[in-house]
Parts: sequence; structure tokens; C-alpha cells
Amino acid sequence: MQVSWDSLHAEILSCEKCELCRQIRCKVPGQGDGNADLMFIGEGPGADEDLQGLAFVGRAGQLLTKMIAAIGYTREQVYICNVVKCRPPQNRAPLPEEAAACMPYLRAQFALVKPRVIVLLGATAARAVLGDQIRITRDRGVWVEKKGVWFMPTYHPAALLRDESKKRDAWHDLQAVRDKLASLREA
Ligand code: URA
Repeated sequence: MQVSWDSLHAEILSCEKCELCRQIRCKVPGQGDGNADLMFIGEGPGADEDLQGLAFVGRAGQLLTKMIAAIGYTREQVYICNVVKCRPPQNRAPLPEEAAACMPYLRAQFALVKPRVIVLLGATAARAVLGDQIRITRDRGVWVEKKGVWFMPTYHPAALLRDESKKRDAWHDLQAVRDKLASLREA
């Protein structure tokens, strides 16, 4: 799918490719700099995101904002989106068929933004993008390069809120992201 932002957003807003759209208030396409070098992909909208139509604006989103700031960026300088654009009920993880139905939108976002580095927040994002073999506790912090784009799987900010002991590893991963972007800029 090679589309413009306007047509992509229109497609997402009218999408009925899976059941998730039946119970939501707002679609949450994603937001930020449409030409960013750095892209963050989460799992799916939660309650706050569903109300506002914006990705990562609840508690996990506030932590993500701090994580982004810690490596010298603002939210406006990066692109932020999710695997699925509709809130799964009771905040459950999206089903494989829901993630698959939404994947063309993520691919289109990727094609439009053309980021150099993508941070995969949590197992759902890491598996959707890198494959089902990914185990976030085992594979986080390890770069995967595909066609010149660098993918960093790390913990989801909601996991960091539940278990503070993961923050040290997450900070390590974020520093690697900061350093990778610096080295790509110099190259
Ligand atoms: N969790 C996610 O994965 N995405 C959001 O947008 C909010 C919470």
C-alpha cells in the first residue's frame, strides 16, 4: 500500500476489517513527525487513547514521553503508533488475526515515515514486526537490522510501571537507540 497520510488516515478511520472497531469510541492511527528518524510501536490503544484518539497519552504514555525525553527527543520529533488502531476490550492483547488485519496500516506508516530506527515496545509489537519466535525478556536489547532499518525490541512502558526492576534494562536499550541514531547521523 503506497498512500498519502490523508488517504491512510481516511482508510483507518473507516476500517471494519476486524471486530475491534465495534466497541470503540475513537480510532487511534498514531501521531508525531511523519518524517521522523525514530519510530515507536506499541501494542494497541488503552482507555485514555480510545477517548482522545491519540496513541500513548495515558500512564504508560506519560512514561514513554519521559523515555523519549531521556534520549534527547520530544514526542513531536518522533512517530508513535500501535500494532492495532482500535482498543481491544479490557485492554487484552490483540488477537493474531486482529494484528494481521491491521498490519497493512503499520506497513503504510512505515513506508511513509521511513524511520532509520524503530523501537518495538513489548512482546506484541516485537512479534508482529519481527516474528512469533521473539521472547521479549530474551531478545530485548538486541538489534535486528532489516534493509538498513534498525529495530530495537524493549519492554513496554506499562511493563516498567508494573515492575520497576525492568527499568535498568530499558534504559540500557534506550541508550543504545540514542547512540545508534548518533552514529547513523555521522555515517
Ligand atoms: N499501550 C499501548 O501499547 N499503546 C498505547 O497507545 C497506550 C498504551
